[in-house]
Amino acid sequence: MVKIYECKPEDLDESLKQLWLSLAREMFKIERFILPSEENADKWISFIRDTLVRGKGFLFLAKIGNKPIGFCTSSIFETPLEVSELTGSINDLYVLPEFRRRGVGRRLMVESLRKLKAKGVEAIRLSVLKENKAAVRLYEKLGFKIYQYGMEKTFRKSI
Ligand SMILES: CC(C)(COP(=O)(O)OP(=O)(O)OC[C@H]1O[C@@H](n2cnc3c(N)ncnc32)[C@H](O)[C@@H]1OP(=O)(O)O)[C@@H](O)C(=O)NCCC(=O)NCCS
Repeated sequence: MVKIYECKPEDLDESLKQLWLSLAREMFKIERFILPSEENADKWISFIRDTLVRGKGFLFLAKIGNKPIGFCTSSIFETPLEVSELTGSINDLYVLPEFRRRGVGRRLMVESLRKLKAKGVEAIRLSVLKENKAAVRLYEKLGFKIYQYGMEKTFRKSI
């Protein structure tokens, strides 16, 4: 049975690092941006730990027994400027391929949205590649709508 846990800073361990590496490898195939390296995994863990310690970030982990099979990170948007409403974001969402289409991603999202709402967040944003149909469908089902277009110009040589 899949259980969802909210992680504390001391829960961030090697198994979570491996899960992040799986996400990073999969994302690198479709976006070629963040390198799926051990060094980046360590940096990511430190970054997440810092946001948890400061109460600005949250991490929900899906487990079967002791085995982590998915996670979702979210945070409260931090800015030195005055804003009209408290905004949050969903930052990473991942479920191991063999456990997909069983509602785990949805449950991780629901817990993260509930947490942000409980913290007083009034709007939640996220970015997703338009080609990532599975994630786009999941977010739409949860009520997310396009509010902005991301634009890019590249200087890459076409090969
Ligand atoms: C996106 C992701 C987290 C979804 O996790 P999941 O546990 O499979 O999602 P769920 O089973 O909760 O699916 C919920 C709904 O999302 C939609 N969905 C999920 N996967 C889908 C797919 N492959 N194709 C179409 N719709 C899909 C469906 O509407 C689904 O509801 P349904 O099963 O009742 O039809 C998972 O595919 C994943 O880890 N992908 C790689 C990482 C990634 O893309 N993360 C998001 C980056 S922005």
